[in-house]
Amino acid sequence: MDTSTEYTPHAEAIAELFTATFTASDGAEEGALVGCLARRLIAETPAEDLRVVTAWEEGTLVGGLFFTRLTYPNDPRRVFLMAPVAVATAHQGKGIGQRLIAHGLDLLRQEGVDIAVTYGDPAFYGRVGFKPVTEADMPAPQPLNLPQGWIAQSLTDAPLTPLPGPARCVAAFDDPALW
Ligand SMILES: CC(C)(COP(=O)(O)OP(=O)(O)OC[C@H]1O[C@@H](n2cnc3c(N)ncnc32)[C@H](O)[C@@H]1OP(=O)(O)O)[C@@H](O)C(=O)NCCC(=O)NCCS
Repeated sequence: MDTSTEYTPHAEAIAELFTATFTASDGAEEGALVGCLARRLIAETPAEDLRVVTAWEEGTLVGGLFFTRLTYPNDPRRVFLMAPVAVATAHQGKGIGQRLIAHGLDLLRQEGVDIAVTYGDPAFYGRVGFKPVTEADMPAPQPLNLPQGWIAQSLTDAPLTPLPGPARCVAAFDDPALW
């Protein structure tokens, strides 16, 4: 598996990966929603607030994930949201997802990011270090439909102590339908 953090030349392929993967796992409506999110994240997010990490096998895009900045104006720590994450349906279950996430978290660590948070299945993301957090300890930028899916980890030696709200996400995520 090769990885890349370049996204501009691959924007359409990345959006297609997310559309197809989520259509297969969650239906056409979810596929369209997440594909549109991927497109908007790339088109509208300032580079300093966006990291895209992709996985490739023999020149084919097989996985991808987005990190976008979450801003807590009342706390100096740097926080990134990891979402969405996709591994192409035909390539799932081979460890690509966990390797891609571990690699992405390492890149954030290397640039001094303090905390990663995501919103998904704790059973899967627990394998790569995420643990449940409450909205009281770590406010989300929108009300959460599935608060049990709000999970985070410290990327430094410091323990994950509560973050004071409010929290702000990038524009493409500012849609209650995504939370
Ligand atoms: C979730 C996803 C990214 C995992 O990628 P992957 O490459 O298949 O994952 P890995 O091969 O590293 O790990 C697979 C393991 O995780 C488990 N797993 C995968 N998705 C899971 C989920 N939603 N909940 C619990 N476990 C899950 C698999 O059962 C497998 O377990 P096993 O090793 O005991 O057999 C991928 O399956 C995917 O894109 N799914 C559809 C879209 C999605 O749900 N994205 C995440 C939400 S943003």
